[in-house]
Amino acid sequence: MRELRVEHLFTAYDRADVLEDVSITVEKNSITCLLGSNGSGKTTLIRSILGLTPPRRGSILFGDRELTKLPTHRIVAEGIACIPEGRKIFPRLTVAENLRLGAYLEEDGRVIGERLERVFAVFPVLAQRREQLAGTMSGGEQAMVSIGRGMMGAPKLLLIDEPSLGLSPLFVQENFAVIRQINEQGVTVFLVEQNVHQTLAIAHRGYVLSKGSVVAQGTAQELLANDEVRAAYFGSGGER
Ligand SMILES: Nc1ncnc2c1ncn2[C@@H]1O[C@H](COP(=O)(O)OP(=O)(O)O)[C@@H](O)[C@H]1O
Ligand SMILES: [Mg+2]
Repeated sequence: MRELRVEHLFTAYDRADVLEDVSITVEKNSITCLLGSNGSGKTTLIRSILGLTPPRRGSILFGDRELTKLPTHRIVAEGIACIPEGRKIFPRLTVAENLRLGAYLEEDGRVIGERLERVFAVFPVLAQRREQLAGTMSGGEQAMVSIGRGMMGAPKLLLIDEPSLGLSPLFVQENFAVIRQINEQGVTVFLVEQNVHQTLAIAHRGYVLSKGSVVAQGTAQELLANDEVRAAYFGSGGER
């Protein structure tokens, strides 16, 4: 069953066309990835799904609901959360305050408390540091706050924008294991990345975006064997 379907999407900033005829399907309960180098349009697609940069043409269906005409807060209320590029934590708020922001649509304090405990079960270090200002934490710990905040919305669909950016390989591995764990708990994941190896190790299916267009798609195994993917990512420059 499909959760999200992007069809023939065109998105532009002012006069600069970025996405050109992008079609992507995310199956329910899957981890679907979008691989692409810097500037290929990955973040722009996430912004379009969230209604932050609405597309010029095309359709975005979440279940049976058309998102392209909805404002961002309504899209989020449908059950979509985002872990944004660069984490975007609030440095002068505590860890617990940052996490609670992810549950801003939930009014029941007991439910929020349960979600908080679930995040702390995944990231025990955040429980120890719940009163610490988030800006004083290490990069890896801030990444945990960002992922935890995404979990706090209890979304059906989680959009994750380059979680590996700026993290040491060990943290990348840990965070990807957590993403897989979140997915196994029934959350559909759309993962946008440049880190091909680690991403295809956890993704079920994926797409490759180049200059705003999808140039390859398939299962993780198919993409690893794809000549275009190999040329782009496993060529002379090695993995990016
Ligand atoms: N706010 C913006 N205004 C104008 N152009 C933008 C803006 N954000 C991104 N772009 C341009 O859109 C293209 C795609 O960017 P982006 O979606 O951020 O790519 P990626 O996330 O894959 O690195 C780039 O050429 C970038 O310069
Ligand atoms: Mg980006």
